Formats: sequence, structure tokens, C-alpha cells
Amino acid sequence: MTKLTFPEGFLWGGATAANQCEGAYDADGRGLANVDVAPIGPERGPVIVGKRKMFDFEEGYHYPAKVGIDMYNRYKEDIALFGEMGFKTYRLSIAWTRIFPKGDELEPNEKGLQFYEDLFKECHKYGIEPLVTITHFDCPMHLIKEYGGWRNRKMLEFYERLCRTLFTRYKGLVKYWLTFNEINMILHAPFMGAGLYFEEGENEEQVKYQAAHHELVASAIATKIAHEIDSENKVGCMLAAGQYYPNTPHPRDVWEAINLDREGYFFVDVQARGEYPNYAKKEWERKGIEIAMEEGDLDILKEHTVDFISFSYYSSRVASGDPEVKDKTAGNIFASLKNPYLDASEWGWQIDPLGLRITLNVIWDRYQKPLFIVENGLGAVDTPDENGYVEDDYRINYLAEHVKTMRDAINEDGVELWGYTTWGCIDLVSAGTGEMKKRYGFIYVDLDNDGKGTLNRSKKKSFDWYKEVIATNGASVK
Ligand code: BG6
Repeated sequence: MTKLTFPEGFLWGGATAANQCEGAYDADGRGLANVDVAPIGPERGPVIVGKRKMFDFEEGYHYPAKVGIDMYNRYKEDIALFGEMGFKTYRLSIAWTRIFPKGDELEPNEKGLQFYEDLFKECHKYGIEPLVTITHFDCPMHLIKEYGGWRNRKMLEFYERLCRTLFTRYKGLVKYWLTFNEINMILHAPFMGAGLYFEEGENEEQVKYQAAHHELVASAIATKIAHEIDSENKVGCMLAAGQYYPNTPHPRDVWEAINLDREGYFFVDVQARGEYPNYAKKEWERKGIEIAMEEGDLDILKEHTVDFISFSYYSSRVASGDPEVKDKTAGNIFASLKNPYLDASEWGWQIDPLGLRITLNVIWDRYQKPLFIVENGLGAVDTPDENGYVEDDYRINYLAEHVKTMRDAINEDGVELWGYTTWGCIDLVSAGTGEMKKRYGFIYVDLDNDGKGTLNRSKKKSFDWYKEVIATNGASVK
């Protein structure tokens, strides 16, 4: 008889990111960040990939992060709802510019620190363990303007100060930390991932991998300090995952799939195994990419690997070595070839629950470290009734199918998985498009793409469904 429950202590919950929900972009001394100046609309794409210089608010654009869903002012109400669902954990991120408004100050902003302290205490009231992403697509604009973002080694110093401040202040309140959200996004959305803007004619790959080196060393230093400050701290890396399938059994497609997977696993190889993989070194050699490193960098990477590996999973991907095969579909930031066996969301992201089991197994086999799914969910258009109630069976179905394969990965395959936080447990601004219309939540927020609405919260059908899943530790999903 198949076991329906999850391991005892499994961390069920939901996830958000500061810039997509807090709003209050200039409250209590907060400084401006990269994600604040990413507008909704056709300019967003070029801005987040570092091709369109938008270092400030410009006339004629709508910037949804300014208000977010106003969680800065409403977090108590929101956390109470998470508590009602029975969350064991809540993944959220710190807005760096609340703590260090410009990023290079020596002293933190007390009001920012106090905000998160209150928020963490609020979580604990409901028995919710915070899981904190230190940077989720978040870099102070001042550090971009003055230093060029993560291309500059000085960033290590600023990031270290941020981490030290957080680990010290929140000792005893937070024990699960993620250093960089979807660290591989540096390759696909470099302004969002690392505050990189490219001048005409620059060798972009060189800049991206140099910035990646800085983030990787910064992540290892953060891991070191976290453990020094509190031996209870558990630090994880975070990958935008989703296994590549070869488009056909043709060996060149299989080879392409391996290579595209390596683009992402490159980061985890360093963070979990502590070394740059040979395939990357060879690739850099071929392309003439030279990474400036300082003495001790490689030792730090080696000595301070992560305690666990977290990842987001929305879909699997498809690779072809044949340049004639071009039928693509949208995905999390970057597109992939279409998989004819899968359905897709309204945004073209393909739906592949078994792909989650596959991805979990591949990552587990590769690293043998505990895993944590920190994002998964369906972005969909919701139509609320006059009470704000949404009958979101499509979301329930999506999540239920993923819960099943995740359970199989644990119970049938022996993968060690610590927890599962669905993305956007409360509706929030989309990172990729800036839309409000693309909703993931169990909780509906009355706000539209133009920033109009009451911001009122209401429960969707999936709210009670998830509550039951958590209460039965997964057994209600048949
Ligand atoms: C991940 C990010 O890329 O996917 C989130 O970590 C993001 O910030 C999520 O919101 C879903 O993507 P989107 O574009 O639908 O918001």
C-alpha cells in the first residue's frame, strides 16, 4: 500500500519576495533597488536583461513594485492567513535597501531591521518558521550606479556586511537562509539577478561569469559567517531548476540537453561541491573568458559549501542539437522548445508534474544533500465573484499533481526533501512580466495591472484545499 503522508516535520508553506509584495518603496528610509525600476509592459524585458538603461523612474511608465500588494503595511493580516492555513514555514526575502538604503553604508537602518524583526516574531506567533532569501532579484540602485553591480568585487564587502547584520540581529528568530534567489538567472536576466547593465560591445559572458564568481564567493562567505554566528543556521543555495529532456533520442539532442542542464548546475556544482567543474573551465578556455580571482577564493568555495539545495520548479525543458528545430514556448524567464506531450498555462509555461520527480531525483543523485522546493505553482487568470472568492480548481489540480510526484520522490525513490513552499501564496506582482493578472495565490488580492483596486484580501477555493493538505501532512491528496 502506497504511503500517502510526508515525513514528520515536513515544512509545508508558501513563498514571496520583498519587491513583489512589500511596496512602500520609500518608507522608513528605504533606498531604491533595481527591481523597483522595472516597469510593467514591453520595456520590462530589456530592462531586466540589462539592455535598456532605466536607472530611475521615468515618466509614462507604471512601476508595480512601488506599491506591490502593500504587504509592508498589511503583513499581520497576511501572516494570520498563512497561520490559518497551517503553514510550517514562510519563505520571504529581505529588501536590502531597507537595511542598507544605498548598500555601502557602514551602519544599518534601524527601521528596516525592526520591520523584519516584527515580521519574524509575527510568524513565530503562529508556529511558522521563516525561511529567508537574503537577496531575491534585489540590488541597491546606488551600488549599480556607483560600482556596476556584481561585476565589481567591492560587492562582496557590502553583501558580507548585510549578511553579518542579518545573522546577528535575527539569531534565534531565523535559522533557514538562502543566499541568492535563482542564482543561475544571472545568465538570463542579469540586471535583475546581479544589477548588470551592459554597454555596447561589452563581452557580456565575461562580465556575467565574473559577477557569478563574486556571487559564489559571497555566498560561501555568507555560509561561513552564518555558521560562526549560530551553529543552528542552515544555509542553502537556490536554483531555477527544471530538467532538460532531449527533443529526440538523437545523440546530438541528448548532448545539448546535458550542456543546457550544466548551465544551471554549474552554480550548484560550486555551491554544493565546492569547486568549479571542469566542463566550465574548459568552456571558459575555449571562449577566452578569464575570471579574476583573489588568493583564498577557491579555498573559501571549497570549505563553505551549503547545507541544503533549494530550487524553483515550474516546468521541465526541452533541448535540441538541431538548429532547424525552433518551436519554442515561454518559460520561467527564458524560453524552451515545446514539449508536444504537455499542456501549458495561459502564459505558455508547460505543465509537467512528473518532471518534478525527475528533477528531484537528478539533483539528489548529483549532490546527495537535503533538498527544498521553494517555488512551484501555476500563474493563472482568476475571476473572483462579488465576495472575492475564486473557484481555482485549475490551481488545485496543478498543485495536487505536483504534491503527488514529490511524495513519490520521497517515499518511493528515497529523496531527502525538507519542505515545499508554493510560489506566491498570496497574489503578488509577477517578476517576469510585472503583471498582477498572473496570479499564484491561495489568497486573492484586489489589484489590477494598472495599480487599481482596494488591495483587499480574500480566500480562494485553494486556501481550504491547502489547509487540508497541511493538516493531513499530504494524505488528503489522493
Ligand atoms: C521565479 C522567481 O523566477 O519565478 C519569482 O524567483 C517569480 O520571483 C517566479 O515571481 C514566477 O515567475 P513570474 O514571472 O510568473 O512572476
